[in-house]
Amino acid sequence: MYRFEVHQVEKPLEGEVEISGAKNAVLAVMAAALLADGVSEITNVPHLKDMKTMSDVLRVIGCRISGESHELKIDTRGADHLEAPYELVKTMRASFYVLGPLVARFGRCRVSLPGGCAWGPRPVDLHLKGLEALGAKITLTRGYVEATCEGRLPGGNFNFPISSVGATVNVLMAATLAKGTSVLQNAALEPEIDNLVDFLNSMGAKIQGRGTRTLTVQGVEALRPGKCYTIPDRIEAGTFLCAAAITRGCIKVTKVFPEHIASTLDAFRDMGCKVDVGNDWAQVDARGMELKPINVTTLPYPGYPTDMQAPLMATLVSIPGNSTIQDTVYNDRFKHVAELQRLGADIQVNGNTAIIKGGTKLEGTEIMGSDLRATAALVLAAFISEGESTVSRVYHLDRGYEDFENKVAKIGGVVIRHSDDEEDDNL
Ligand code: EPZ
Repeated sequence: MYRFEVHQVEKPLEGEVEISGAKNAVLAVMAAALLADGVSEITNVPHLKDMKTMSDVLRVIGCRISGESHELKIDTRGADHLEAPYELVKTMRASFYVLGPLVARFGRCRVSLPGGCAWGPRPVDLHLKGLEALGAKITLTRGYVEATCEGRLPGGNFNFPISSVGATVNVLMAATLAKGTSVLQNAALEPEIDNLVDFLNSMGAKIQGRGTRTLTVQGVEALRPGKCYTIPDRIEAGTFLCAAAITRGCIKVTKVFPEHIASTLDAFRDMGCKVDVGNDWAQVDARGMELKPINVTTLPYPGYPTDMQAPLMATLVSIPGNSTIQDTVYNDRFKHVAELQRLGADIQVNGNTAIIKGGTKLEGTEIMGSDLRATAALVLAAFISEGESTVSRVYHLDRGYEDFENKVAKIGGVVIRHSDDEEDDNL
């Protein structure tokens, strides 16, 4: 296990950061490879722990995974063990994505229910209801989901009662091999879904409605292996732009799709930052600025992302005045608040709303990461905390931020990794 030694910045952070591929896009595409027999290829893959975990899940199923720098080849020709075990699924919820492809292609599978996560229960009821709507028979036995169907899934229609990225991913993948035409309404709009649609259509799937809330899927008997270029990670981009705002510096993130971070950029503009955008880059300039407190509500895409809630909170701690953040996606995702308070932040949480009284003096100390975005937020706050801070449980951050220390060093920050004798708690 590792901890970070984080130094207060001596001057505002400035420079360019090249953004890696989006882990949440790759995880869905890796599972989708199971829908075909053969070798699928994914490029612009970040080197992250979650990719290894999903590779381990696919290997248990019988796939062979290979690839060198930033690309993966997934050979599914050996896939015959139709199970995803608890010890893997509990470490990464996205392992649950193998459920839809396995039941659609093989007619049966057994997948462990994911555990909770750092900030509470993460239900999968919509994944199961959606697959049942396509004709799968679902039973829950001793913490495992058993999904079966006689022959091909009959297909069907499903209207998601709430916008769910994961449920959209699972049900959409299964629908590609179902009989007839399936219509999915109120599907999630996150860019990672578009990346998956492009990959599935490259495999011969017939999906219409990309980028809308209604996906119409004409099922096919079989799919061929596909190719996918992974979209940039919009949350990593937002996190590094927060580093500019919180230190009153100027950072340009490159290899991004600006349209994917539109709501994130709007929040920086509302604070008073100067925001510039090109076709594959975006820059936040807060040099010498008196930023203003703001009120933000997280929403499903294209609204302000819940995954940016913690990094934004750290940023608002640096801005004098009262700001609020309401998280409508996860109403209990505030484990980072107590750690920010240890640094000296003045934050009150009422239900799913945090009230930040920004501008308090922060003093470096020992703090602990609780999930990947919260841990990134603690590093941001440590940049403006007097002296040095120690951030423990950095394995959370390693799940979603590739080559983090070097990217920070490039913009003038000091984050030093030390090994720790504390055991991973696998949360
Ligand atoms: C995805 O999780 C992301 N993970 C999360 O990012 C992200 O926070 C989340 O979407 C929201 O954007 C991956 O893509 C691997 P949801 P997911 O289903 O799919 C409720 C990170 O930081 N819900 O869109 O699990 C759920 O409780 C991670 O990379 C049900 O009630 O999120 C939540 O309140 C953390 N029943 C809301 O829907 C279900 O069956 C949205 O969740 C499924 C979800």
